[in-house]
Amino acid sequence: MAKSPSLNRREFVTIVTAFLGTLMGAVVGLPAIGYMISPALKVQKKEAWIPAGSLENYPEGVPTLFTFTRTQVNGWEKTVNSYGVYITRKPGGKIQVLSNICTHLSCRVNWKEDLKEYVCPCHDGHFDLDGEVTAGPPPRPLDRYEFKIEDGNASILLRET
Ligand code: FES
Repeated sequence: MAKSPSLNRREFVTIVTAFLGTLMGAVVGLPAIGYMISPALKVQKKEAWIPAGSLENYPEGVPTLFTFTRTQVNGWEKTVNSYGVYITRKPGGKIQVLSNICTHLSCRVNWKEDLKEYVCPCHDGHFDLDGEVTAGPPPRPLDRYEFKIEDGNASILLRET
């Protein structure tokens, strides 16, 4: 006569304990794992409007340096980037926003009021008031930022890569 399969008391307790241990581990562990990996799953917005203040801060026809920083979070890595733009108020309430990064090898250009030009200190690149290249090795004009003006205040559109 064959013996029917059955559990003795010790085997039953072992199986129930293992099952409950696994269940408790999942209940406690899965949220903890989700919490730990959530920064890597977050996608940070790559576009942002940066408030640049009142138009009154920018004299007409004179490029004025405006700087700001932006913190970028990529997973667990946090990076603080600093940006500089030259804002020039134009007649009629418009502005022009040019990057201060030279298009040659990315040095920072400076506005020279006596020359009425942006000058790059690295290889003597020159740009006119509108950012067009007038001398030196830069291959293209200074980059322009989009902007908006609301209630006399300017904001510039930052697109991070
Ligand atoms: S980096 Fe500006 S001219 Fe070379």
